[in-house]
Amino acid sequence: MVHTRQNQSTLSKSQKKRFVDAVLAVKRTGRYDEFVRTHIDFYTGDGDGGLRVAHMAPSFFPWHRAFLLEFERALQRVDPSVTVPYWDWTVDRTPGASLWGADFLGGNGRRSDRRVTTGPFAAAHGAWTVKEAVTDGDFLMRDFGRPQDPVQLPGKDELAAAMQEPVYDAAPYNSLAPAGFRNKLEGWPVRRGDRTWYNHNRVHRWVSGHMLGAGSVNDPVFWLHHAFVDLCWSRWRERHPDAAPYLPATPPGIGDSQRHRVLALDETMPPWDTPVRAMLDHRSLYRYA
Ligand code: CU
Ligand code: CU
Repeated sequence: MVHTRQNQSTLSKSQKKRFVDAVLAVKRTGRYDEFVRTHIDFYTGDGDGGLRVAHMAPSFFPWHRAFLLEFERALQRVDPSVTVPYWDWTVDRTPGASLWGADFLGGNGRRSDRRVTTGPFAAAHGAWTVKEAVTDGDFLMRDFGRPQDPVQLPGKDELAAAMQEPVYDAAPYNSLAPAGFRNKLEGWPVRRGDRTWYNHNRVHRWVSGHMLGAGSVNDPVFWLHHAFVDLCWSRWRERHPDAAPYLPATPPGIGDSQRHRVLALDETMPPWDTPVRAMLDHRSLYRYA
């Protein structure tokens, strides 16, 4: 059945509660921490050897689409009415946004140790112990805007700069790809000396705390962020109907530095063995409102 993912700012009070309750139920069974672990296990970067599937690679979008679908199905086994909402960070861009309310994801971390103290995922609530992490501390942490080294959420212009890219991805298909929608939206700085992070990466940095690294799934806002990233991918395809929907079409050849390091269109994505191609069109599974 095709379900609808909504903008989080349009959720009713009861929809927010159902989403939060389903997330907490998935956490109670231990399943949530398996999602965290999977993301940590697939946090392979350019500097690491071997295949990159989830990040710094063309399959960044299809891998996270499959990951979100699996999570959404876990939520729906708890409550079939729940879908993953999306957070349009070009619009809801302040710590005062309803997203961060005590009735939804809770607010910023406190200054001393970045611990989130409001909402259902606050440590004191007792339902959200961080177990799979790359940092110390078993409480959820946030540090909005990173005041010691301030960063803003990406705006409409920055997102538009990625959306107007005419090709999906470009050689060398990693964090240094100088052109292509994938790297512009994933958001790695490609010019020497540029320490700015763009779009998707900048949102992780703005939330900060657990959202910073491999363990970012520990913050439930991860899913709302990636649902919007997924929506942007969907919009990019609508805007560029004649562009190849995914590149590379075939695996890099002998002598290519990216051989066996990135997935081509008809290869399968671990850990699911889902073909990249199977994730190109979401419309038979879900739609965006
Ligand atoms: Cu990720
Ligand atoms: Cu991400």
